[in-house]
Parts: sequence; C-alpha cells; structure tokens
Amino acid sequence: MKLLNLDHVAVAVVDLDAAIAGYRKRYGVEPLHREVVESQGVEEAMIPVGGSYIQLLRPLGDDTPVGRFLAGKGEGLHHVAYAVPDLDSALAHLEEQGAALIDREARVGGRGARIAFVHPRDLTGTLIELVELTADGRPVS
Ligand code: CO
Repeated sequence: MKLLNLDHVAVAVVDLDAAIAGYRKRYGVEPLHREVVESQGVEEAMIPVGGSYIQLLRPLGDDTPVGRFLAGKGEGLHHVAYAVPDLDSALAHLEEQGAALIDREARVGGRGARIAFVHPRDLTGTLIELVELTADGRPVS
C-alpha cells in the first residue's frame, strides 16, 4: 500500500454555483473542471490548490448519498481522497486487513478515474476515497 498524495478534499454543497462564487471571492480560486457524474448522483467542480483539489459536490437529487448527507448534516466536509498508484492492489491489501470497504472493486468516478470508497466506520469516522493516478498525476481510466 502506498499513498501518493492528497488528491482532493470533498465538500457537500447545496448550490454549486454559489459555492464556486464563494471560493472565487474569498480565496481567488477557479474550478478547472466541472462535470455531472451520474453514477455517483453528483455534479462536481474541481478547484486546483497546489497539487491537490477542493472538490465541491452538489447532489443530483435528495435520494442520493450526498443528498442524504446534506439532509442529515448540512453542508460540510464529506470525504478525503488519497491518490494510489495501483487501486486493485490497494483494495486487496485493505480487504486482507478486514477493512470496511464500500467498494470491493474499482468503479469509475469524476475525470474518468478509477476510484473506491472506504466506509467512515473503518477508521477515524472519515469517508475515504482512493483514486488511481499515474506517476505524473493523471487519472487512470
Ligand atoms: Co471525491
């Protein structure tokens, strides 16, 4: 198991345009990338900061994971994502340890990247996403 870097910090928001405008005004940052990821029920905006991103997540409906998160907790920190060079071996390692995996196999996330989630009950109450990236930091699809 090897973590390459912190890929992104994800924040659940009600209004994506308002959140982007807020980050622009307060911190002078701009999204590099914005897309609807139907499989995850979100529209996401990726704001680059150094070598990482702030990921703003707007649910596509109330009956989605992020929609339920917003209903229960309101806007706020949703998950952190670590980059890994080999997602399949990372998942095998975690499975061997009995980690509480949400995804036993990779699925496709934003930017076409291979991703998988680990349940917050597994460690420190934090929802963790693993994103497979190449050595030069590009998503693997
Ligand atoms: Co994410």
